[in-house]
Parts: sequence; structure tokens; C-alpha cells
Amino acid sequence: MKSKSIIWKQFYIPFAEFNLFTLASNQIRQIYDSFVTKDPQPVTGAVPLSVRPAGRVVYRKKLTYKPVLVELFAGEASISSAFHDFGWKCYVNELEEAKIVWSEGVATNGLPKKSEDVTLLIKDFMKIDWDKELPEEIDFAWFANDCSTFSYINNLNCKCGSGRTNENPEGTTEQAWEANRILDHTVQQIRKKSLSEFKNRTWFTFAIENPDGWMEQQSVVQELLRDPKIKACVVKFDQCHFGRRRSGQDMGEFKKRTIMITNNEGIINHFGTKEKTWHPHAPDPQYICCKERPCQSYNQHKHAMAPGFDGRALDNGDRHSSELAPYPQAMPACIANAVNNWWLSNVAKAKLKSAS
Ligand SMILES: C[S@@+](CC[C@H](N)C(=O)[O-])C[C@H]1O[C@@H](n2cnc3c(N)ncnc32)[C@H](O)[C@@H]1O
Ligand SMILES: [Zn+2]
Repeated sequence: MKSKSIIWKQFYIPFAEFNLFTLASNQIRQIYDSFVTKDPQPVTGAVPLSVRPAGRVVYRKKLTYKPVLVELFAGEASISSAFHDFGWKCYVNELEEAKIVWSEGVATNGLPKKSEDVTLLIKDFMKIDWDKELPEEIDFAWFANDCSTFSYINNLNCKCGSGRTNENPEGTTEQAWEANRILDHTVQQIRKKSLSEFKNRTWFTFAIENPDGWMEQQSVVQELLRDPKIKACVVKFDQCHFGRRRSGQDMGEFKKRTIMITNNEGIINHFGTKEKTWHPHAPDPQYICCKERPCQSYNQHKHAMAPGFDGRALDNGDRHSSELAPYPQAMPACIANAVNNWWLSNVAKAKLKSAS
């Protein structure tokens, strides 16, 4: 019966084995607490993140409501793969299906091809119909916009630059303007999802990831960062903290300073930020490779080469910057862990509250 199933669903989410009609609120609280895992403190010093466990999944057996991730510009789709390990439903957008790394059998390094929790959108991001092709309730969206014109390293000393400068961060080439149009559309979707009222909740959160560069200086990003309804900030980190393995290969360690423009408090509180306007209690950056927090290759990093390589002394092991787009394996696991813990202590909690 339709009406019965709606009522049932409301009072039965998110832990399937307990009928919330039958439990006192302190019992509900205890059950909830027993499933919530605390975010581990960031590792400081020389301990590589890659030795951390990917995360705990035990509570997942009890959940019926699955949180939703949308990964845009997915490349290998390692973010979806990590969120899938935590039991999230994943929508994966990429132009080229061949870039996605699938897991074979039970191996966790890759996206499980046959999972009912994976939906592929192989198409131009600009052509996605967010109302028809994606669910209304999205818990977290990850945008890894193409960085070739925004990245400092790609524009270093070479003729393939975008014409972006501090005075003119918009650039002077067609390619830079196309990247600007895609970024405008990205921010428009973020605004739309963040500000529209849903029947039950408004907890859409997001992160736009890019190498350190001119993305942060785009006016559309600056406006987004100032918006008190969205509360986004810039979180910076160095990828070398996340080890050297990627897609089964030893890639060496590259410092690769990275930014996330995000309003997800799980990420902000775990990774830390200098910009505390909207998040005054956030710690300082935890994953910047420096004397106080060195990675295991501190002071011996290989370099990302600029596309033209002109005028730079190169070392064996330095790599073309385009080879460094996919993330080291432990990084998506760390992001998924932080966001999942945020989800548990905010969204799942709110769902329980509204049901009790
Ligand atoms: C910076 S890479 C992402 C790398 C990814 N984070 C990883 O770990 O593999 C950007 C990706 O966006 C894809 N892409 C570029 N333009 C796109 C568009 N208009 N729509 C969808 N995907 C696009 C590219 O094929 C590329 O794989
Ligand atoms: Zn380092």
C-alpha cells in the first residue's frame, strides 16, 4: 500500500533493524551513537597517510538510506570508488569512459562495474540535465574541473600558457575562456543546489578541486566564497602527504599543492584552513608539507614538468603535469572518510531527529 510505505519509510530511516515507533528517544540516541565513528585526528609528522585504514564500514550494514555523491570530471573516478566503499550511491560524470578505472572482482582499487549504486553519465558536463539525470537530494558533489589553464605549473615559462596573470586572471586564450565558461556553469549549479528549498532538507555540500593556480582568483569563485548562505572557503593541501601509489603504480612523490573550494565541514575540519570567516573553529592547514608536518619525501620531491619544459632543470623521475591529474590512492579515501563522518553526525542525525 503506497501511503503505508511512505509513513513506514519516514520512521524507519536510516537504521533498518529498529522500528523507531517502538524505541524511547534515549535508546535511539544510544543506537545512533554506537554507529557513529569519530573522525581520526590528522596524522602529523612523517607518518604517511597511506598507512591509514580506508575507513570503517560496519555501520553501513544498518543503513537503509544511502547518501548520494555526484563526481563531475571524474577521470579515474577514484573519488566515487572511495565513497562507494563507504556505502554511498555514486553518480559519475566523465567525457571519456575509457579513463575510468574499474575494480576487478573484490579488489577495492577501482569502481565496481556491476554495482547498482553506480550510475554513469558519459557526456559533456555542460549538457547534464541536473533535474532529470541526477537525484534531487545530493549529499556531496565533487568537481575536478580541467586544470590545464588554471594551474600555475602549466603556465610556467612555456608558450602554451593561458595568458592568465594576477592582473588578468581570466586569461587571453580560447581555451582559458572555455574553462571559465565551464567554471561559471559549475558555480551556477552549486548555487542552484545550495539555495533551492527541498521538502525535507538543504544539506547539499560540494568541493571544487584544482591545483594551486588562478581558479581561486576568478570573480565567480570570489563571489561564491563571500556568500554567507553557502559558507565556502579554500582548503589547501599537498598531495605528497597521501603517498606515492596510484592505479597500482609507484609514481614517486610530488608535492602538488592543491586547493578545494568547499563548504563541507567534514573536509574543512579535517584538512584545516587559514580562512576562518565562516568556520572560525577550523584548525590551521593539516596537510601542507613543511618542516612541522613533513611527508616522507620532504625536501626530496620530484617535480611536475610544465608542458613546454623550457628553461627548467629536470631530474629523473620528474613528470609531465598531465600525468599527475589522478590522485594518489589514499587521498580519495581520506576525503570520503571526512565527508562520511560529517554525513553521519549531521545528516543521519537530523534524519533520526525528524523521525523521533
Ligand atoms: C583534471 S581531470 C580529473 C582527474 C581525476 N581527478 C582523477 O583522479 O583521475 C579532468 C577530467 O575531466 C574530463 N572532462 C573535461 N572536460 C569535460 C566535460 N566538458 N565534461 C565532462 N568531463 C570533462 C576529462 O576527460 C578529465 O578526465
Ligand atoms: Zn611532501
